[in-house]
Amino acid sequence: TDLSHIRNFSIVAHIDHGKSTLADRLIQSTNTVADRDMKAQMLDSMDIERERGITIKANTVRIDYLADNGETYVLNLIDTPGHVDFAYEVSRSMRAVEGSLLVVDSTQGVEAQTLANVYQAIDADHEIVPVLNKIDLPAAECDRVAEQIEDVIGIDASGAIRVSAKTGIGIHETLEAIVNLLPAPKGDRDAPLKAMLVDSWYDSYLGVIVLVRIVDGVMKKGDRVKFMSNGTIHGIDKIGVFRPQMQDVAELGPGEIGFITASIKQVRDTRVGDTITSERKGCDAPLPGFKPAQPVVFCGLFPVDSSEFEDLRDAIDKLALNDASFSHEMETSAALGFGFRCGFLGLLHLEVIRDRIEREYNIELITTAPSVVYHVYMRDGEMVELHNPADMPDLTLVDHLEEPRIKATILVPDEYLGDVLKLCQDRRGVQLDLTYAGSRAMVVYDLPLNEVVFDFYDRLKSVTKGYASFDYQMTGYQQDNLVKMSVLVNDEPVDALSMMVHRDRAEQRGRAMVEKLKDLIPRHMFKIPIQAAIGGKVIARETLSALRKDVTAKCYGGDASRKRKLLDKQKAGKKKMRQFGKVDIPQEAFISALKMD
Ligand code: GTP
Repeated sequence: TDLSHIRNFSIVAHIDHGKSTLADRLIQSTNTVADRDMKAQMLDSMDIERERGITIKANTVRIDYLADNGETYVLNLIDTPGHVDFAYEVSRSMRAVEGSLLVVDSTQGVEAQTLANVYQAIDADHEIVPVLNKIDLPAAECDRVAEQIEDVIGIDASGAIRVSAKTGIGIHETLEAIVNLLPAPKGDRDAPLKAMLVDSWYDSYLGVIVLVRIVDGVMKKGDRVKFMSNGTIHGIDKIGVFRPQMQDVAELGPGEIGFITASIKQVRDTRVGDTITSERKGCDAPLPGFKPAQPVVFCGLFPVDSSEFEDLRDAIDKLALNDASFSHEMETSAALGFGFRCGFLGLLHLEVIRDRIEREYNIELITTAPSVVYHVYMRDGEMVELHNPADMPDLTLVDHLEEPRIKATILVPDEYLGDVLKLCQDRRGVQLDLTYAGSRAMVVYDLPLNEVVFDFYDRLKSVTKGYASFDYQMTGYQQDNLVKMSVLVNDEPVDALSMMVHRDRAEQRGRAMVEKLKDLIPRHMFKIPIQAAIGGKVIARETLSALRKDVTAKCYGGDASRKRKLLDKQKAGKKKMRQFGKVDIPQEAFISALKMD
């Protein structure tokens, strides 16, 4: 296609503001899909995405649009993931297009997540077209929201398109705006091939499918191409576009977006953001800014039923094939047996993978407390990355520790601001900025990631009755006074409960932890000391008193069947327990004990 008749764009929106519905409408109104084939939300392919209402993998669709000026345009929509954990994928796919629709729910207004994504679009030099959605609802406040877009984001919203993705109002205007306001891509057909690897995923029939954006040159079936980050060479087996179902094409030229398959075995071999060129006479320099996504949050995944370890291995291997940013290695825990230490891009990523293992593979899991990656500087000058508090080296060998910090942006209605500031302060936050846009405040905090990974988001939602929105970016590492706190139950260390804490908070956290455990662990026939310790020093202690009588003692010997029933119940309960030395600890204890109130 001629470059001047191509428009490439993405849609930036907060979850639930109507991105998928709008995309569906654009597809439907251009007859890209016959009505009878139109499933609601074509673009969200995985069930789990549909259920959670979030879009995880970037998807794409090519639309032919006959514009009012009588010319036909090719519109390529790349669907970007909407969540902070996938910020890196968002930033890559943004670089593959020239413009964005900024969709804001006109009954809600701008959210923190929208802000983060729109800044990525601005960084990628996008032309941005604001769209006010859901104007069919009586609660729509278009003028107020347009003003807020200008105040908070700083882009002109006077021409914002008023849309109801539900009823179809404004869809035609949106298509015209894409054609008239967004720039056409640039590129040189005669230059050596230069294409960006925008995304990739595993398909059980075709193997790895790679989504590409051609910058210069042409790609054809049978061409031999090179992935510049690792130098691997592949022959192109299949080349095509998504409408949104796959359709083969003869070639892809500059400005075009499409897919290739090339007998690539696993998604791990394809790095998002990589540059693809020809094997011979390739381009000189790769596209700028490539860096592979790094996992930042780690936790242990263990099967509840230890006989399911092999099934878990299988499930994890399969999921990893399709997700280059998910890392895993085998781990053994004295407490939990065999399992895996897994790395994720963030908490949502963790939840999605855990849910998929439990649901798609039917394996019940124990998830240990999420931990961030610490940098441990040894006295001999070496730096060790610490992914698991249980592996903390001997303190006498350690010089100092550094922890990752983030810049968090929170948007919240005025009345909850006080609670939000307190929460951030409690989590060792440093306030960077506080501004107002109408009746909403925008606070920016520098926070340790460690204080955010566990339950910060839940707490934020609960203190603001769900009204706050939150987004973050990693900023770097900083030294702090961090120590490993271990927990001992009946004098045995329980590795799955050990955690890294700030020295000043250790006593408080230790006390809270042992108090919680005292409630979570059932009483036994003997006294059980529960202790929190740093190195050899106990910082908090509780004692669980001994159970005085057998439960069955109440039955006065008479009713044997009742006695048996009670014993059966105990047995069933036991299955949900983990044995530590002589003590049974229920599964819930592992997660509950770490929650802070
Ligand atoms: P994610 O896929 O989770 O990122 O959400 P999304 O932004 O794609 O939102 P989605 O399209 O799933 O829409 C969220 C909800 O808003 C759905 O229940 C839609 O039916 C509804 N919705 C979307 N657009 C409109 C609209 O114009 N008017 C009304 N009344 N409802 C809408």
